[in-house]
Order: sequence, then structure tokens, then C-alpha cells
Amino acid sequence: MTAKPRVFVTHPLPGTAVDRLRESAEVVVGASGRGLADPAFADFASTFDGVVTLLTDRIDKALLARCPKLTFVANVAVGVDNIDLAECAARNVTVTNTPSVLTEATADLAFGLMLAAARRIAEGDRLVRAGGWKGWSPTFMLGSAVHGATLGIIGMGRIGRAMARRARGFGMQVVYTQRTRMAPEMERAMGARYAPVDHLFVMSDIISVHCPLTPETRHIVSADRLALMRLGSILVNTSRGGCVDEAALAAALARGPIRAAGLDVYEDEPNVHPALLALSNVVLAPHIASAEVNTREAMASVAVDNAIAVLEGRLAPHAVEGAGA
Ligand code: DGY
Repeated sequence: MTAKPRVFVTHPLPGTAVDRLRESAEVVVGASGRGLADPAFADFASTFDGVVTLLTDRIDKALLARCPKLTFVANVAVGVDNIDLAECAARNVTVTNTPSVLTEATADLAFGLMLAAARRIAEGDRLVRAGGWKGWSPTFMLGSAVHGATLGIIGMGRIGRAMARRARGFGMQVVYTQRTRMAPEMERAMGARYAPVDHLFVMSDIISVHCPLTPETRHIVSADRLALMRLGSILVNTSRGGCVDEAALAAALARGPIRAAGLDVYEDEPNVHPALLALSNVVLAPHIASAEVNTREAMASVAVDNAIAVLEGRLAPHAVEGAGA
């Protein structure tokens, strides 16, 4: 009898997906929080045929060199910026991700952060709990309107489009930017106008970031672009922290022109830039956009489907372009 391929799952996953994987592979699940440093992986790296990873696991050249048998990296995330795609391609390691299943959950959270930042919900909550509320007043805690505002979407992929659909329900105007412009009929169907990136910063009352983190999009929200934003405008980021220059954002929140921000992701997670922590006009969520029971189970399930496909010699349903065969 031939031995089953060995797969390391870097963290216990919700639901029953890992049980399915056990039918096709000898599965080792790492202890919570240890990731690839778990001795169950670190001491046996060269024996594994595949890894199921989280966005917190770094798959770089050095790691890949320790795993000569590796045929796949199945990331339990849509973002793959934690993985060296070029090196995986060079080594013929298939990289997969979990798109679609977290689209709505992520757009829900982005919309929630937008409302919370614009209408000062978290700030108000802190004030009430601290006993600082002195009663209703016509000039107390004025925020800015979401309904009717112009929403600028950076990255009109699945999540950006889900954000645009929600925005239409709030009577917002939608402007978007991305590398490739959508077809005119798609723009009409989405009720979204294209704008080059710098124009979008000038035109929007609220900007929401939904592009993947790549060398091209690192600090796409830069100091120069923040300076283009409208007085009193708002920034939301549920994509990756590296898309925003956090130091520049903190400065823009302290001095203007922008009035508030809602963030779920950070440049150096789980650390948050101290200048952001010191500001009351930024709502800080701990990277929870997909943290909803059904979504997380579905992400685990899609990652396992991808892994099983590679183990069975089939094309993975969600192989990431530009990575191995
Ligand atoms: C992803 O899948 O990339 C998300 O950030 C997870 O919440």
C-alpha cells in the first residue's frame, strides 16, 4: 500500500473540512497560534506534500527551500500577499485561494466601518460608557452623511462590486478605479463611473479600498493622494494594511483634510500604528471582515477542495494565476 501524501494545516479550522482532507492525505494540524513554527511542521518540513495556510503564514523562498516535496499551498484567504508567487511558480507549487465565499461578509464589514466612521458610532459608544454624555444638543457629535455621498471604490473585484451594490441602496454615487476598466454595460449595471486613481481621490466623499496588495498597490493610498481628498472625507480599508501609508493616514486624520477612517487591516498586524491608536476619529477593527461562522467554514471548505484537487491530480478550482502549474 502506498503511503498517503502528507499535508500540514497550520491552524485548526472551523467546520468539518479537515475531516474531508483526511480521506485523501495524512493530515497534521498545527497548534493554534504557532503556524509554520510549530515543531510538527518545522522539524518535518521536507516530508510535506502540501500546506493549508492562513494569511498570517509567510510562504517565502527560505520556507519553500525547506519543502522540496511541496506541490501546493492552499491559502484560507482570498489575499495571497503572504506567499511568494514567483518562487512558487518557479518550483511548480500550485497556490490556491478562497474567493467568492467571503465577498458579502467583507462588504458588510466595510459598509459597517463606513457608517461607524461617518456617524461616529464607536466614538459615541466610548463617550457614553465613560459617562461623558451630557444630553442632546443640536451641535453635539455631528458626523457626515452616508446617504447621497459619493463613494470611491479602489478595486472593483467581487468585494468592490458588493460594496457598490450596498451603496446604491443608500442612494450613493459610485466611482471606481482599477487597472482594467469594466465594460460599459457592466458599469451601467453597477451604476458605477470609472475614474483614474488620482481623480477618484478628488471626487469622493468616502473611499473604500478593495484591491489586493501587490507591489503596484502598496501605499496606493499615499500621503500625496490623501492630500487630494475632500475636506471632511472618510477612508475605509478592509483589504490589506499595506495598501495604505498608515503614518500618512494618521497625519491626515490629525490635520485634515480627512475627517475619519474605518480600518480592519494594518501594515504590521497585529500591531497598530501608535499614531492611529491615539486618534478618536478612526474606528479600529481587528481584521474581522470574514469573521462570520458560515463564511469561515466556507473558506476552510474551499481551501480543502483546492487541496484535494491538487492531490488527485486535477486542476484546483481556485488556482491563483501566476503561481505554479
Ligand atoms: C482574506 O481572505 O484575504 C481576508 O483578509 C480574510 O479575512
